[in-house]
Amino acid sequence: MYIPFPKNSKFCSFIKCSNRIVALVLAIMLSTPVLLRAQDSTAAAAPAGGGDVAKGESLFKNNCAQCHAVTDERVVGPGLKGATSRQDMPWLIKWVRNSQAVIASGDPYAVKLYNEYSKAQMTSFPNLSEDDIKSIFAYVDQAATAPAPTAAAAGGAPAATGAADSGPSDLFMIVVVALVVVMLLVLGVLLVIVSLLSKAVAGGTEAAPKADFMTRLSTSLKNFAMDSSIRSATIWVFALLVLKATIDGAFNVGVQQGYAPKQPISFSHKLHAGEYKIDCNYCHTGVNRGKSAHIPSANICMNCHGVIKKESPEIQKIYTSIEKNQPIEWVRVHNLPDLAYFNHAQHVNVGGVECENCHGDVAQMEVIQQRSSLTMGWCIDCHRKTEVNTKDNQYYDKLVQLHGSESKEALKVADIGGLECSKCHY
Ligand code: HEC
Ligand code: HEC
Ligand code: HEC
Ligand code: HEC
Ligand code: HEC
Ligand code: HEC
Repeated sequence: MYIPFPKNSKFCSFIKCSNRIVALVLAIMLSTPVLLRAQDSTAAAAPAGGGDVAKGESLFKNNCAQCHAVTDERVVGPGLKGATSRQDMPWLIKWVRNSQAVIASGDPYAVKLYNEYSKAQMTSFPNLSEDDIKSIFAYVDQAATAPAPTAAAAGGAPAATGAADSGPSDLFMIVVVALVVVMLLVLGVLLVIVSLLSKAVAGGTEAAPKADFMTRLSTSLKNFAMDSSIRSATIWVFALLVLKATIDGAFNVGVQQGYAPKQPISFSHKLHAGEYKIDCNYCHTGVNRGKSAHIPSANICMNCHGVIKKESPEIQKIYTSIEKNQPIEWVRVHNLPDLAYFNHAQHVNVGGVECENCHGDVAQMEVIQQRSSLTMGWCIDCHRKTEVNTKDNQYYDKLVQLHGSESKEALKVADIGGLECSKCHY
C-alpha cells in the first residue's frame, strides 16, 4: 500500500513514517482477533492449569467448606468473602494454624470475632503450609468475584472447568468486531491525512494552496480510490468473498435442512408420538415393509378422532376431507431428488436404524422439521461409520465370516457395498 510522496521534501520523513503507521495499524488490525483469542485461551487455561487456585479449591472443600462459605453468607463461621482485606496474610496464616493461640494472645479482632460467634472454636490446621493457606485464600478471592461458577463448584459440579472449554462468548466477539471497526476508521483517517500531507507537500508551490479543506479532502479520497494497488486489493477481496459465497451456495442448492413448513392441520408429533406414545408404525405403515414410510390417510386419524375431540375446528378439517373425498394436502418435508434411491425397510427393518438417527427427536416436535441434510455426503458418512446389524440374520453369516478373516474391524455398511454408486443411483 504505497502512497506516493515527493522526494527532497522536509515532510518526507514524516510521510514515510506515516506509511509505516498505516502498515502498523493494518498489521495490528489483522492480528487483533488472533491476539485476543490467544490471550483469552491463556486466561481460561490459567485457573484450570493446576495452579494455586485449583489446589486452594480442593483444600478449601476438604477442610473449610463445612463451616465457611466463599460468599459473605454465615455458615458456622463467617463468610470468607473479603477475609483477605479484613486481615493481612501473616495474621490469616497464624489464625488458620491455631486460632485459639491468636485469641489467647489478646488480638482484639480475634477476641471480638470469637465472642461474636459465641465462642465457637474453629478447628486448628497446624499441618497446612503457608503456601497451602495462601492457595486457599487465592481460591476464596477468585470464587468470591465469580459468583456463578462458585455456586456450581460448591455443589460439587465440574461446571467451572466445562465453561472453560466453550468458545469465545458473544460479548467477546462483539468487542472484537467493534475493535476492528474502530481500527478500520483509524486507518481510513490516517490514509486521508497521509494523502493530504503529501498533497500539501507536492502542491506547496502551486497556484491555489488555499483550496478549501473539502475539495482537498475529496481529491485525496479520489486519489486514494484511484491508487492501483488499493484498487486491485479491493477487487481481490471482493472477488474472493463472491467466490466463497458462490461455493457455499452451490453446496447448499437443494439442501433443506431445518425446513419446517406450516401444515394444513396443526397435527403435533409431540402430542401423538410424545405424550400419547402412539407408535410411529401405527401411522407410517410403510417403514418396515417398503421404500416409503407413507403418510397416514384420514381414515387412520378417524380410528381415534371419530370419537376424540370431534368438536375441535382442527379435527373438523379431517371430517371435511373425508366428506369431500379429498385427501388432506400435507406439505412434503423430506424429499430426495429422483436420481437417488432410498429405502426405509432396508434401514429400519433390516438395518435396525432408529428413526431418530435420521429424523431427530420427532416425538418432541410440535411441527415436523427436516433435521438432517439428506445430502450424499450424509448418507456416505453414516455408511462408513455404521456397523451392519448382522445379529440373527443368516443372510450375513457368510459375509461376516469372510470379512472376519480379512479384517479385525467390525463389518461396516461400506463393506457390504454401501458406497457403490449403483446402490443409491438408478
Ligand atoms: C468447625 C468449623 C470451622 C472450620 C472447619 C473452619 N473454620 Fe474458620 N472459623 C470458624 C468460626 C466459628 C470462626 C469465627 C471465629 C471463632 O469463633 O473462632 C471462623 C473464623 C475464620 C476466619 C476469620 C474470618 C473473618 O471474618 O475475618 C477465617 C479467615 C477462617 N475462619 C478461615 C478458615 C479456613 C481457611 C478454614 C479451612 C482451612 C477454616 N476456617 C475452617 C469455624 C471453622
Ligand atoms: C391413536 C389415537 C389417535 C390417532 C390415530 C390420531 N390422533 Fe389426533 N389426537 C389423539 C389424542 C388422544 C388427542 C388429544 C385430545 C385432547 O387433547 O383431549 C389428539 C389431538 C389431536 C389434535 C389437537 C386437537 C385440538 O384441537 O386440541 C389434532 C389436530 C389431531 N389430533 C390431529 C390428528 C390427525 C390429523 C390424525 C391423523 C393423521 C390424528 N390426529 C390421529 C389421538 C389420536
Ligand atoms: C398419529 C399418527 C402419526 C404418528 C404416531 C407419527 N406420525 Fe409422523 N406424520 C404423521 C402425519 C399426519 C404427517 C404429515 C404431517 C406433518 O408433516 O406433520 C407425518 C409426518 C412425518 C414426517 C415428515 C414427512 C415428510 O413430509 O417428509 C416424519 C419424518 C415423521 N412423520 C416421522 C415420525 C416418527 C419418527 C414418528 C414416531 C416417533 C411418527 N412420525 C409418528 C402422522 C404420524
Ligand atoms: C437412514 C435414515 C432414515 C431412517 C432410519 C428413517 N428415515 Fe424416514 N426418511 C429418510 C429419508 C432420506 C427420507 C426421504 C425419502 C425420499 O424423499 O425419498 C425419509 C422420509 C420419511 C417420510 C416421508 C415419506 C417418505 O417415505 O418419503 C416419513 C413419514 C418418514 N421418513 C418416517 C420415518 C419413520 C417413522 C422412521 C422410523 C421408523 C424413519 N423414517 C426412519 C431417512 C430415514
Ligand atoms: C444413520 C445411518 C444411515 C444413514 C444416514 C443412511 N444409511 Fe443407508 N444404510 C445404513 C445401514 C446400517 C445399512 C445396512 C442395512 C443392512 O443391513 O442391509 C444401510 C444400507 C443402505 C443401502 C443398501 C446397501 C447394500 O449394499 O445392501 C442403501 C442403498 C442405502 N443404505 C442408501 C442410503 C441412502 C440413499 C442414504 C441417504 C439418503 C442413506 N442410506 C443414509 C445406515 C444409514
Ligand atoms: C449411500 C448412497 C449413495 C451412494 C453410495 C452414492 N450416492 Fe450420489 N447421491 C446420493 C444422494 C442421496 C444424492 C442427492 C443429494 C442431494 O440432493 O443433495 C446424491 C447425489 C449425487 C450427485 C449429484 C446430482 C445432483 O443433481 O446434484 C452425483 C453427481 C452423484 N450423487 C454421483 C455419485 C457417484 C459417482 C457415486 C459413486 C462413486 C455416488 N454418487 C454414490 C446418494 C449416494
